[in-house]
Amino acid sequence: MPVAVVTGASSGIGKAAAIRLAREGFSVSLSGRKEDALKETADECIKAGLKQDQVVLNVGDLTDFDAAKKLIENTLAKLNTIDTLINSAGILTNGEVNSTDIEVYDKQMDVNVRSVIYLTKLALPHIIKSKGNVVNVSSIAGPCPFPGVTYYSISKAALDQFTKCLALEMAPHGVRVNSVNPGVIVTDIHKRAGMGDKDYEAFLEKCKSTHALGRAGDVDEVSEAILFLATSRSSFTTGELLRVDGGRGIMFPR
Ligand SMILES: NC(=O)c1ccc[n+]([C@@H]2O[C@H](COP(=O)([O-])OP(=O)(O)OC[C@H]3O[C@@H](n4cnc5c(N)ncnc54)[C@H](OP(=O)(O)O)[C@@H]3O)[C@@H](O)[C@H]2O)c1
Repeated sequence: MPVAVVTGASSGIGKAAAIRLAREGFSVSLSGRKEDALKETADECIKAGLKQDQVVLNVGDLTDFDAAKKLIENTLAKLNTIDTLINSAGILTNGEVNSTDIEVYDKQMDVNVRSVIYLTKLALPHIIKSKGNVVNVSSIAGPCPFPGVTYYSISKAALDQFTKCLALEMAPHGVRVNSVNPGVIVTDIHKRAGMGDKDYEAFLEKCKSTHALGRAGDVDEVSEAILFLATSRSSFTTGELLRVDGGRGIMFPR
């Protein structure tokens, strides 16, 4: 049975990916900070067909390197191997460079880039053994610039270059490295970044015109793309930034 480590598994895209992979027969090692939410994801994975001992919970903040080490050690102790690492944990910070403290940049990069690189480094020796793969959850804000989320966009552009460079480094080992780059997906991330209920409603309404397909996306649409990249269905694909963005990234004013 293949084993997936999924970060950000307590919410949104990571949660949906964990459940989708569980349904596909992966054992899952789930990472998040909120224990109750992580337990809910575990229950859903069991409902999707896994046995209790095929689901491992890891509570911790991944900017704390000890938590990252424990995540990998605990996964290996309980599930023996790692076939795929899904790096979905991430945060969104808002604000123009002009008026946003540099500490916000530090925090943004710490969560979305530094901790991802560190965890991936820890997982790679095991992924090389299994000839597995890595799937990073980036954003359409990686390849495309948007004002007001510059630090976030920089973090995702860095993650995209990490995906491509690491794909080249890992190819000789038979390990593939790819990302999904979603457009706006309905999750908690925007409200966590400070958006109120009314503004969020207006934001989703605006998505009808900012996304070519006329709407925001759904976590299940992203998890299908993650499943594709995490399995041999994409056996000849590496270094790919797969847009799951309803055409947002190909829109230009006319
Ligand atoms: N939703 C979108 O519109 C969208 C679009 C493009 C890309 N993305 C990307 O998709 C990924 C998932 O976002 P989402 O929309 O699913 O957001 P979400 O619902 O807010 O989930 C974020 C997840 O990341 C975890 N997390 C955050 N900081 C962490 C830390 N320091 N250590 C460990 N875990 C941490 C959270 O854990 P806890 O909840 O347990 O704290 C949660 O499980 C992010 O990388 C985001 O940039 C999202």
